[in-house]
Amino acid sequence: MAVVVSSRLHSYVCCLLFIIISQASAQPSFLNHFCLSDEGSFTANSTYHTNLNTLLSNLTSNTQIDYGFYNLSYGENSDKVYAIGVCRGDVKPDECRSCINNSTVLLTQLCPNQKEAIGWYDKCMLRYSNRSIFGLMETSPLFYTLEFVNATNVDQFNQVLDNLVSNLTGIAAASGDSLRKYAAGNSTAPNLETIYGVVQCTPDLSQQDCNRCLVEAFSRITSSGKISGRVATPSCNIRYENYRFYDEPSTTADAPAPSL
Ligand SMILES: *[C@@H]1O[C@H](CO)[C@@H](O)[C@H](O)[C@H]1NC(C)=O
Ligand SMILES: *[C@@H]1O[C@H](CO)[C@@H](O)[C@H](O)[C@H]1NC(C)=O
Ligand SMILES: *[C@@H]1O[C@H](CO)[C@@H](O)[C@H](O)[C@H]1NC(C)=O
Ligand SMILES: *[C@@H]1O[C@H](CO)[C@@H](O)[C@H](O)[C@H]1NC(C)=O
Ligand SMILES: *[C@@H]1O[C@H](CO)[C@@H](O)[C@H](O)[C@H]1NC(C)=O
Ligand SMILES: *[C@@H]1O[C@H](CO)[C@@H](O)[C@H](O)[C@H]1NC(C)=O
Ligand SMILES: *[C@@H]1O[C@H](CO)[C@@H](O)[C@H](O)[C@H]1NC(C)=O
Ligand SMILES: *[C@@H]1O[C@H](CO)[C@@H](O)[C@H](O)[C@H]1NC(C)=O
Ligand SMILES: *[C@@H]1O[C@H](CO)[C@@H](O)[C@H](O)[C@H]1NC(C)=O
Repeated sequence: MAVVVSSRLHSYVCCLLFIIISQASAQPSFLNHFCLSDEGSFTANSTYHTNLNTLLSNLTSNTQIDYGFYNLSYGENSDKVYAIGVCRGDVKPDECRSCINNSTVLLTQLCPNQKEAIGWYDKCMLRYSNRSIFGLMETSPLFYTLEFVNATNVDQFNQVLDNLVSNLTGIAAASGDSLRKYAAGNSTAPNLETIYGVVQCTPDLSQQDCNRCLVEAFSRITSSGKISGRVATPSCNIRYENYRFYDEPSTTADAPAPSL
C-alpha cells in the first residue's frame, strides 16, 4: 500500500476521468498524469491537433534516438507544439520506444483537448505543450508516493538515504551530459537493509538546474523513514526501494554508480 499525493500550481483536470478511461484502455495506466488547463485547449482537427498528432507519431517512429531522450517540436507560430520524452536511464532503446509510444497513446486519450499534458510511467515520462519547454526547470506539477512501512531504524535509515540521494544527485547533475543525466546506486548501513536509488533529470537542464530540481524534489520525501519512496516532476525524478529495481549498466563507465 502506498500513499499518493499530488500537488500542482497549474490547475488540472484529473482523477475520476482518469480512473474511468484507464480501465477501458488497452494501455497500461500511468503512475500519474495531469491534463493542464493553464495553456488552454484545442478543438478537434484544429491545426494544433494535427500538429500534435504529427509530432507524436514522429516521436514514436524515430529509431535514431538510442539515448532515451526525445525533444521535438513541430508547427508554426501559435500552433507550434513542443514535446519531451525521457526514459529511465537504464531502459534499453526498444523498451524506451515502446514506453514512449504507449505514453503518446494514453496521454492523448486521457487529455483529449488540453494543449499541455504530462504522464509518468515507471520507465518513461512524456509531456507536451504549446509553450517552449526545452531547458526549463519545472518542479510543478509533481506527485510523490511513500510506502507505509517504516524502516527498522528510522534515524539511521534517513541518514543513509540522504547521503545516497545527495551522492546520486551530484553524479547525475555533474557527470551527466546533454543526452542523459541519470545516476543509480545502493547504500548499506550497519544493521540495515540495502537502499537502492535512482535519480534523473531531463538532460536539457543545466547542471545547476538539475541539482536544484533534485534537491527540491527530494525535500518532499526526505526524513519520512519509509522503506520506499518516489517523487516525480516534469524536470526530474527520484525513486528508492529496498530491492534493486533498475538494471546495472553493463560497463561501469556507462552510468556511474557510487560505491558507498
Ligand atoms: C498557448 O495557448 C493559449 C491559448 O490556448 C495561449 O493563451 C497561450 O499564449 C499559448 N502559449 C504560447 C506560448 O503560445
Ligand atoms: C475530425 O476528423 C475525423 C477524421 O478526419 C472525423 O472523423 C471527425 O468527425 C472530425 N471531427 C470534427 C469535430 O470535425
Ligand atoms: C521526424 O523524424 C525524422 C527523424 O526520424 C526527422 O528527420 C524529421 O525532421 C521529423 N519530422 C518532423 C515533422 O518532426
Ligand atoms: C506498452 O503497452 C503494451 C500493451 O499495449 C504492453 O504490452 C507493453 O509492455 C507496454 N510497453 C512498456 C514499455 O511498458
Ligand atoms: C504504438 O502503439 C500502438 C498501439 O498500442 C501500436 O499499434 C503501434 O504499432 C505502436 N508503434 C510503435 C512504433 O511501436
Ligand atoms: C511508522 O512510524 C510512525 C511514526 O513513528 C507511526 O506513527 C506509524 O504508526 C508507523 N507505521 C507503521 C506502519 O508501523
Ligand atoms: C558520496 O558520499 C560519500 C560519503 O557518504 C562522500 O565521501 C563522497 O564524496 C560522495 N560522492 C559524491 C560524488 O558526492
Ligand atoms: C533539444 O533540446 C536542446 C536543448 O537541450 C535544444 O538545443 C534542441 O534544439 C532541442 N531539439 C529540438 C529538435 O528542438
Ligand atoms: C551496489 O552497487 C555496486 C556498484 O556501485 C554494485 O557493485 C553492488 O553489487 C551493489 N550491491 C548490491 C547489493 O546490489
